Amino acid sequence: MPGGCSRGPAAGDGRLRLARLALVLLGWVSSTSLPSSASSSTSSASLPAPAASGQPALPGRCPAPCECSEAARTVKCVNRNLTEVPADLPPYVRNLFLTGNQLAVLPAGAFARRPPLADLAALNLSGNRLKEVDAGAFEHLPGLRQLDLSHNPLADLSPFAFSGSNASVVAPSPLAELILNRLELPAAERQNLSLEGMVAAALRAGHALRGLRRLELASNQLLYLPRDVLAHLPGLRHLDLRNNSLVGLTHVSFRNLTHLESLHLEDNALKVLRNGTLAELQSLPHVRVFLDDNPWVCDCHMVDMVAWLKETEIVQGKGRLTCAFPEKMRHRVLLELNSSDLDCDPILPPSLQTSYVFLGIVLALIGAIFLLVLYLNRKGIKKWMHNIRDACRDHMEGYHYRYEINADPRLTNLSSNSDV
Ligand SMILES: *[C@@H]1O[C@H](CO)[C@@H](O)[C@H](O)[C@H]1NC(C)=O
Ligand SMILES: *[C@@H]1O[C@H](CO)[C@@H](O)[C@H](O)[C@H]1NC(C)=O
Ligand SMILES: *[C@@H]1O[C@H](CO)[C@@H](O)[C@H](O)[C@H]1NC(C)=O
Ligand SMILES: *[C@@H]1O[C@H](CO)[C@@H](O)[C@H](O)[C@H]1NC(C)=O
Ligand SMILES: *[C@@H]1O[C@H](CO)[C@@H](O)[C@H](O)[C@H]1NC(C)=O
Ligand SMILES: *[C@@H]1O[C@H](CO)[C@@H](O)[C@H](O)[C@H]1NC(C)=O
Ligand SMILES: *[C@@H]1O[C@H](CO)[C@@H](O)[C@H](O)[C@H]1NC(C)=O
Ligand SMILES: *[C@@H]1O[C@H](CO)[C@@H](O)[C@H](O)[C@H]1NC(C)=O
Repeated sequence: MPGGCSRGPAAGDGRLRLARLALVLLGWVSSTSLPSSASSSTSSASLPAPAASGQPALPGRCPAPCECSEAARTVKCVNRNLTEVPADLPPYVRNLFLTGNQLAVLPAGAFARRPPLADLAALNLSGNRLKEVDAGAFEHLPGLRQLDLSHNPLADLSPFAFSGSNASVVAPSPLAELILNRLELPAAERQNLSLEGMVAAALRAGHALRGLRRLELASNQLLYLPRDVLAHLPGLRHLDLRNNSLVGLTHVSFRNLTHLESLHLEDNALKVLRNGTLAELQSLPHVRVFLDDNPWVCDCHMVDMVAWLKETEIVQGKGRLTCAFPEKMRHRVLLELNSSDLDCDPILPPSLQTSYVFLGIVLALIGAIFLLVLYLNRKGIKKWMHNIRDACRDHMEGYHYRYEINADPRLTNLSSNSDV
């Protein structure tokens, strides 16, 4: 991550400068040659950014691999194996579907055109094998409200992807909806990289996403929600964290999300919600919370949550929530539990049970190694045993002898006589 942070803006600046140079050159070339959109795509192939051919696209012109509808203000370039964003997008475009291609990298200013695509409001980049999204990739799209980057193996999302390539002047982003579901990183890359940290950095950067109202982060195997990420999204109405691996929400604060209307936490690994979280959620005026399909642990720590569930109106389908652990409580409905049902086994809590098993295995191993050492050294040990035995025998015999001497008066006499 630190590498990504320091590299992102610098590389972005370089690319931007190159892109501007390319812009100037292209403008000059195209003004001296025949205006042709077909040639612009081939000539831009060698450039780092497919930014903007100089000539304004003619109204009604459509990039070759795409389908355009001026009436619907929609352009669709779907499943065409494109490796670059088409240069000659029509200026009327409001909805752009660029899905199922092979873009792989989205450079700075990938959608910057002259004149800018001012009406582009919904941009769908789902399923493009995008690995890298650079700083300022969505620059010069003043009307962009909805962005879908789902189904991409995003391993390198610049912290400034949504803010701008010039880190010193963070422009507030116009985005209202950001959809980042199923960022399917290969398992090997996941080990090195914290998806949580990477996404959080991009959501935080310069408070650019102050206006965000919907954030979807479903099916990303998220293990935790970074501590301060929500603090930078005060306008959030809808937060979707479905189908992740969140274990708890202890470190997350929902307090400032006063506009929050829906919070989806289904299909996670939540065990219990603690008092602090319960109080924060309860304080939000409009929220509805979805908690189905979590492995709730019904022990003494669950008492507060059960009491809260019985009172609250904000949990949707609260009657469906059931215990997953411990075994004896499985499938019990949370709402029907009494505090007398919720106890912590004082003798062996589950964590300790596993540690006892572990201890047993370790002891057995040590024992086995000891026996093996004994076996391998059996000759030496035999000799040693003989020595000990002999020594013992000598000692015992000496002792015995002395005892007899002391015990037998005749011998005592004898010895005293002989002394004489
Ligand atoms: C895209 O590539 C795949 C495999 O390389 C190929 O089967 C498919 O026909 C291509 N689609 C288009 C529209 O060229
Ligand atoms: C984007 O396109 C994908 C694939 O067609 C689709 O499943 C998804 O719903 C679209 N996203 C939005 C926000 O419409
Ligand atoms: C970034 O913004 C600052 C302040 O406006 C400006 O001085 C600087 O030249 C910009 N850098 C780039 C690479 O555009
Ligand atoms: C993970 O990081 C190590 C060293 O930091 C590097 O050698 C390795 O190639 C990385 N693996 C992947 C899949 O990026
Ligand atoms: C849940 O997420 C995993 C990947 O993390 C995905 O494979 C699975 O299809 C998702 N399930 C649903 C119901 O979306
Ligand atoms: C919540 O907002 C208040 C002011 O609006 C601010 O002082 C506080 O730091 C914020 N808390 C968090 C956790 O962001
Ligand atoms: C949680 O809050 C309830 C009510 O405010 C209180 O009775 C209870 O003692 C608290 N539990 C803990 C563990 O602090
Ligand atoms: C919970 O307690 C109430 C009254 O205190 C009782 O009527 C009910 O049967 C109890 N439920 C369970 C599951 O023990």
